Amino acid sequence: MKIKLADIELNCHDEGRGEPLVLLHGFPLDHRMWSHQIREFGKTHRVLAPDLRGFGKSDAPPDDLTTVTMTQLADDLDALLDALAIDSPIILCGLSMGGYVCWEMFSRHRDRLGRLVLCDTRAGKDSPEVAKGREIMAHRLESEGTEFFLESMPAKLFAPETIRRGTNAYQSTCQSIRDSSPRGAAAAARGMALRRDFSSQLAEIDLPTLVVCGQYDAISTPDEMCSMASEIPGARFCEIPDAGHMAPLENPEPFNQVLGEFLNESLQ
Ligand code: MLT
Repeated sequence: MKIKLADIELNCHDEGRGEPLVLLHGFPLDHRMWSHQIREFGKTHRVLAPDLRGFGKSDAPPDDLTTVTMTQLADDLDALLDALAIDSPIILCGLSMGGYVCWEMFSRHRDRLGRLVLCDTRAGKDSPEVAKGREIMAHRLESEGTEFFLESMPAKLFAPETIRRGTNAYQSTCQSIRDSSPRGAAAAARGMALRRDFSSQLAEIDLPTLVVCGQYDAISTPDEMCSMASEIPGARFCEIPDAGHMAPLENPEPFNQVLGEFLNESLQ
């Protein structure tokens, strides 16, 4: 459904009843990457899976807004929760770019949060080279559209075996990339390049936290994520076998099992 905020309409999948579980997608995708989790946890939780500003069926930024920061995306989520009259603590689960938004939710809207799930993401900021690459990518998106992503992005997002088998996960992600707004993706790419380093704040996280990473994630590797988890007090780290960066979509059964256990245990 569409939710009207002050300056934008956001699309948000809203399914089930109970404790709110909010799922934040990665770049340049939309809420459909969480289809297996929506189906499973919609039986026990109220699952909210928004399309972030500029993605999926949410409004693209206006022409004069060429950058959308991670703080803006966190403030959008805060406003969305207000619009839905949700005032109980949420379980916030973000993948990659969605994880960058989790850091800003922790910094800016800590009282919204009950538990955190960080999937295939990182706490550090971009190196100058990576930030420069994002600007080049943003220009290319604005002039050519999203199609060129399909040449290189699947190899980064998925385990080699997922691509070889041409699974539904692979096909549906290619479709989300095709559907995404070039202007929205360009603005978020610039926003990611501007994000700050959250590494020194990991020790301040005072929430039950689960950190999950696909075994073959080449973007945020298991080693990097395991070391990140070790800095968050009490956090649990789990590696999902036979999956790359898109672990919840690539290998949903073990992912859902790990998430389900965390949701049950951390309630006690
Ligand atoms: C994502 O999956 O959201 C991206 O890999 C994030 C990034 O480009 O840093």
